[in-house]
Amino acid sequence: MSQDTPERIEESVEASNNNFQINTPEDNQDESRQPVPEGMSKKQLRRQKYKQKWEEKKLIKRAAERIRKKEKRAALKETGDLSKLRKRKDFRTMAQSNSKQRIALDMSFDDLMIEKDQKRTVQQIGWCYTANRHSPNPFQFHVVGFNGPSRKIYDGNEHNLNQDIFLHHEKLETVFEPKDIIYLSSESDNVLSELDDTKVYVIGGIVDHNSQKGLCHRIAGEKGFGHARLPLDEHILMKSRRVLTINQVYEILVHYSVHKDWKAALLSIIPERKNAQVKEEVRTEEPEQNKSESEEQLVS
Ligand SMILES: C[S@@+](CC[C@H](N)C(=O)[O-])C[C@H]1O[C@@H](n2cnc3c(N)ncnc32)[C@H](O)[C@@H]1O
Repeated sequence: MSQDTPERIEESVEASNNNFQINTPEDNQDESRQPVPEGMSKKQLRRQKYKQKWEEKKLIKRAAERIRKKEKRAALKETGDLSKLRKRKDFRTMAQSNSKQRIALDMSFDDLMIEKDQKRTVQQIGWCYTANRHSPNPFQFHVVGFNGPSRKIYDGNEHNLNQDIFLHHEKLETVFEPKDIIYLSSESDNVLSELDDTKVYVIGGIVDHNSQKGLCHRIAGEKGFGHARLPLDEHILMKSRRVLTINQVYEILVHYSVHKDWKAALLSIIPERKNAQVKEEVRTEEPEQNKSESEEQLVS
């Protein structure tokens, strides 16, 4: 019986890579001779094939990676150097957490999203969940107003079945006392400086590509909720927009709750392409003549 070794798998990856090369004009001619299924354009067929090849390549790569890890483990066991083996982390549930801090994701925006963005939003719930699970003291994570098409997308994925999240069909102000609600919004003039565990911080569950500018801020104002923005301008310099994704906001809150350091939280989560840079504190005891100079040198 033939056994899989990383070399064999690598060979398959190599073969698959070769398969994956950009088509030559001859290949294209061959492909153009293939019959196009009814109801499908040539472009759709090409895309389907590309996707198929991509998926195959991904599976092969994963298999090779698994085998490589297995071999590494075996080798480490043999040399007795078990300290390098990564221990499976003991995750804490929300019930075991020392944190009472509530964070809610408001999923009442399905009507404003196309299906693709509903799926993206659901994917981001998963990333928030992962961040929460990895925290030594997970937040009490609620998803509210979760009753539309995105709920179906979420429930349709078996990996989501046993997630340690409080899911509510009911809307935000039914689940929580309106006086406790602080809606997070990049448009707010209030700066979030620390977390108050008598409050519930709410993230808008919407992927809108900036088409609904100011929406959550407006809702907070209309419904009389408190609101606040993350302290981006206070700690970092950023040339791009201050609107972050749902999971970035969640991950920043998790990081802050553990290390109590906004600057570190923002810099570790905000993606490089946003080009966030450290903002140096301006020293107050500075001589007058140097002041304007250093105020201009905010980037380290
Ligand atoms: C992709 S944004 C949605 C932007 C949307 N136009 C709006 O009106 O909120 C997803 C959510 O992340 C939160 N968020 C994003 N950037 C933020 C920031 N800089 N400060 C506070 N909350 C932020 C908000 O709760 C926001 O609703």
